[in-house]
Amino acid sequence: MTYPTPRRRVVLLGATGSIGRQACDVIAKFPDRFELVGAVAGRDAAALEAIATRFGVARTALVHPDPSATLPEGCESGMDAACEIAAMDADVVCVAITGAAAIRPTLAAIDAGASVATATKEVLVMAGELVKARAAAAGARIIPIDSEHSALWQCLRGEDPSSVSRLVLTASGGPFLKRPLDTFATITPAEALAHPTWNMGPKVTIDSATMMNKGLEVIEAHFLFDTPYASIDVSIHPTSIVHSWVEFRDGAVVAQMGVPDMRVPIALALADGERLPGVGPHLDLRDVSPLEFLPVDGERFPAVALARMAGERGGLAPCIFNAANEEAVTAFTAAKCRFDEIVPLVGAALEAFGEGDASTLDGVLAADGWARDFVRANTAETVAAR
Ligand SMILES: NC(=O)c1ccc[n+]([C@@H]2O[C@H](COP(=O)([O-])OP(=O)(O)OC[C@H]3O[C@@H](n4cnc5c(N)ncnc54)[C@H](OP(=O)(O)O)[C@@H]3O)[C@@H](O)[C@H]2O)c1
Repeated sequence: MTYPTPRRRVVLLGATGSIGRQACDVIAKFPDRFELVGAVAGRDAAALEAIATRFGVARTALVHPDPSATLPEGCESGMDAACEIAAMDADVVCVAITGAAAIRPTLAAIDAGASVATATKEVLVMAGELVKARAAAAGARIIPIDSEHSALWQCLRGEDPSSVSRLVLTASGGPFLKRPLDTFATITPAEALAHPTWNMGPKVTIDSATMMNKGLEVIEAHFLFDTPYASIDVSIHPTSIVHSWVEFRDGAVVAQMGVPDMRVPIALALADGERLPGVGPHLDLRDVSPLEFLPVDGERFPAVALARMAGERGGLAPCIFNAANEEAVTAFTAAKCRFDEIVPLVGAALEAFGEGDASTLDGVLAADGWARDFVRANTAETVAAR
């Protein structure tokens, strides 16, 4: 089949995950608009091979292939290969690798001057200043996919930044919005993985249950939109219809809404802000009223205040916040820490951390490693063995 040129050449990092699969849906729905030229995943060889075959992808790589298995034909392996693919001649590099593991390929894409459509909030949190400096140097753009930040991006399009008085991120509140606080110590990973409105990968789902996700998003918003922390607020909105809103100095409020469906912000980012037809389901506001908005209960969800504190401290504190959280989530899923210990562990890491250099990748990775060691040392035993 021939297509009108130019189709946008897309590289997909984290192709086999929840965001990656939905990005594939978008690319498959608009074959005349997008061409998938590179795809990277962690270790799921079968899923990556299926994507390579379906889209005729020129280059693929697994960062951590199973050493005992044979790689699919033509598939490369390792982080260097992932970075080379991220730096291919593409119009847009979609970043959807979970967590800090995405930093090197994201920087490779930025250094190549690509438009980087990122779902991976952790990269901006751990290295916001570095990422922005490298993007400015290379002329690369960073386009948000996270639904809240895509919403803010949409609300801010065409607006004078100095007319903004406040950004408000919405949060569903996750599965434990109404659970009695005195039962938080017994929350299991299975319970934390049951999100009421979004179907996502496991790490971001647990982050949503602790609201660490919203804390990460506050820091992400600060870096994406150059907004001071004092002007970024969070509101609980259980049905996730309003994805976020912006308040302007004249009193106007602009919100972005839709049925929760990540394909909408993914398509918007891949198409560089163009609205493609029929991406998400139709929303009639009369079917979802009344819309409910609540303040964040700081006792139930201390993660948001902790994130704000880490963000305002600046330097490598957001990096420590992110890495300690990633490691604490791993410990929780391995029954080495309780659900209600995740945020205090991150707080303890922040308190124990000294100084470092946030302006270099080496400095960021050293802090990241320090925080992981700190949490591992404090979660060495299973909860049952304590
Ligand atoms: N899912 C959502 O609706 C959503 C919404 C907003 C933001 N986000 C953000 O998007 C990112 C991805 O989330 P997700 O829900 O799509 O996660 P996911 O379903 O767990 O998928 C993660 C992807 O990253 C790959 N990966 C994991 N660890 C890796 C590593 N060490 N090196 C290289 N690749 C690795 C996985 O590959 P294998 O499967 O091959 O191991 C998979 O392709 C996260 O930062 C999340 O916060 C997600």
